[in-house]
Amino acid sequence: MTDLLSPEKSTTVRVIADAVTIREFDSTDLPGIRAMSHHLSARSLYQRFFAGTPAIPAALLRQLAQVDHDRQDAVVAVADHLVVGLAQAVRTEPGTAEIGVLVVDAWQNRGLGRTLVTALAERALPRGIGEFRASVLPGNEPARHALTRLWPGAVGSVDEDCLLYRLPLAPLLSASHLAPARVPGGLRRCVAVR
Ligand SMILES: CC(C)(COP(=O)(O)OP(=O)(O)OC[C@H]1O[C@@H](n2cnc3c(N)ncnc32)[C@H](O)[C@@H]1OP(=O)(O)O)[C@@H](O)C(=O)NCCC(=O)NCCS
Repeated sequence: MTDLLSPEKSTTVRVIADAVTIREFDSTDLPGIRAMSHHLSARSLYQRFFAGTPAIPAALLRQLAQVDHDRQDAVVAVADHLVVGLAQAVRTEPGTAEIGVLVVDAWQNRGLGRTLVTALAERALPRGIGEFRASVLPGNEPARHALTRLWPGAVGSVDEDCLLYRLPLAPLLSASHLAPARVPGGLRRCVAVR
C-alpha cells in the first residue's frame, strides 16, 4: 500500500496496492481461507466468531462450500496469491442478509474491510437485498468504526451480547466512500481513497 500526501497536505490518501484484488469467492479459495488462520490473531478470531477459537471454524468452511451467490454470497481479497480478506452475506429473511467480515491482521486498517462490504452490497442490491445486518461485539471498535464510516450515524441496538446494526444498502451505494477501478474480466482492483 502506498500512502500519498494529498495536495492540501491535510489528509492522507491511501491507495491499496494494485496487487490486491477483490473478487467473487470461488470454492477453489477454500484452502486459502483455511490458511488465513495463520495470519489472524486470537483477538480477530474472537471478534469475528464471538468465541475463543484457534482457527477459522470448520463450520464456516463447510458453509462456504455451499455458497451459491444467491442465498449465500461471498467475496475475497487476494494479495500475492494469499487470501487476506473475506466477506459473506447470508440471506436471513426476504430482503435482508447477515454479513460477516474478516481481514487478516497485517491488512487491517488499510481500507479492505470497507471495500469488501461495499463489494458485497453492490452484488446484493440487484438480488433483491435491501438491508444488511451485522452483529458486532460492543468492544469491537474497529468494526463499529468501519460500519459508521460506511453508514454515518448507524447505531447498533443491543441484541443479547452483541450490537445489531441494520444497514440499508441504497444510501451506501449512492455515496462515494470509495473510488473503485474496474478491470477486464469482471475483477476489481480496489483503490480505496479516504
Ligand atoms: C473489522 C474489520 C473487518 C475491519 O476491516 P479493516 O480492513 O481493518 O477496516 P478498514 O481499514 O476498512 O477501516 C475502517 C475504519 O475502521 C478503523 N479501524 C480499522 N482497524 C482499526 C483498529 N484496529 N483500531 C481502530 N480503528 C480501526 C479505520 O481507521 C477505519 O476508519 P477511518 O477510515 O476513519 O480511519 C477487521 O478489522 C477485522 O477483520 N477484524 C476482526 C474480525 C471482525 O471484527 N469482524 C467484524 C465482525 S463480523
